[in-house]
Amino acid sequence: MTRREFLMAMLGSGLLLTACGTEREPVDNFSKLEVKNLRQIITADPSTSRTIMFQADEPLSDPIIELQLDDTIRSIKAVDCSFDDDEHTHHQYSARIDNLKAGAAYKYRVVDGSARTDWHALKTADGNSFKALIFPDSQCADYGVWASVAMAAYEKNPDAEFFINVGDIVDNGEDRTQWQAWFDGAPFIDRIPFVPVMGNHETYNRQWEVREPVAYLKLFDVPSNNIAAFERYYYSFDRGDVHWIVLNTEPFAGLIDEQKSWLRADVEASDRKWRVVLLHRDVLQYRIIGRPERQEGISESGQDFMPLFDELGIDLVLSAHLHTYRNRGRIFNFERSEHGALYILTGLAGDVRYPIWIDHELDEYVAPQPETDNYLTLEASDDELVVKCYLPDGREIDRAVVTKPSE
Ligand SMILES: [Fe+2]
Repeated sequence: MTRREFLMAMLGSGLLLTACGTEREPVDNFSKLEVKNLRQIITADPSTSRTIMFQADEPLSDPIIELQLDDTIRSIKAVDCSFDDDEHTHHQYSARIDNLKAGAAYKYRVVDGSARTDWHALKTADGNSFKALIFPDSQCADYGVWASVAMAAYEKNPDAEFFINVGDIVDNGEDRTQWQAWFDGAPFIDRIPFVPVMGNHETYNRQWEVREPVAYLKLFDVPSNNIAAFERYYYSFDRGDVHWIVLNTEPFAGLIDEQKSWLRADVEASDRKWRVVLLHRDVLQYRIIGRPERQEGISESGQDFMPLFDELGIDLVLSAHLHTYRNRGRIFNFERSEHGALYILTGLAGDVRYPIWIDHELDEYVAPQPETDNYLTLEASDDELVVKCYLPDGREIDRAVVTKPSE
């Protein structure tokens, strides 16, 4: 061990050094605080705000987030947002941090009484150029598969500013062991914000019946949509010149109609150059091997939303649910057209495989079959959005570019 490594280890252990280099006990006598699933959640403007959430095995007394930039430390009170689900009380806390400086490298930790965690990195966004990491369905029987895809993607893209999961994050939305395994597979969630999308599997209880998706709604304190009946079901945020719209394709009574009204108002209120939609259920209907009665066409979700995407000038639509990566190019009025949005079906980041689909006439690129896992990146700049699809070994298999003249 070098002297520097020794000194860093001593600092990390809480032992401080005097000016002449001799050790002394820390004056504040803090102990190590253990929290679970410490995470950053996307906010409406990630250049100036962030939501920090975390859980604990036992209730905490009065937790705060300490946020440091240069020599300044701010303290932000964490709110108790514990909840009961899966016959278990989840002790959980959330802190909303506002008035951040854009483009700054902060660090933060959780403090509760005389205990505190280590420091964790928190970077705020700035400018119009950025990279996002996008994962398709991560539901698994063995979440080690999700962990290997997620870590491979993050290690190859340490410059990603946030990461997205396009729904079916877990196989069973009530099973807390699956949520824990999913969090364990993406430990970088403490460093970059998460953008969740609700899939059908988030809505299942342990009997595989659709229920209010309690765990999903409680675990991810996403930006408000100001619709009381469907708070956290769908939302939007901005990053650079991109307006991101996270939709919900689940069959809850009244949700689609309410959401269509919200979507129109949300997009019309945005002045950003680009409009990107994330939704779980794909917009196309594929034929299925062995089921000749099923026709190729547009899915229910496509019927619901594609006309609105045409009307609102959506640039890019990323969907999931079918566990296959397909680039369908631009579609307008349900047909191939350079005027429409680019539609990408994002693929699979777990171990549940559906090798049943027959190619759709709108497919422009299909991932190599039989299909394994994949992930995507989206790189935004002033002039273009570039979507790339990778296998977990880092091999790029597809690339699509959306351009638009400057307004
Ligand atoms: Fe799904």
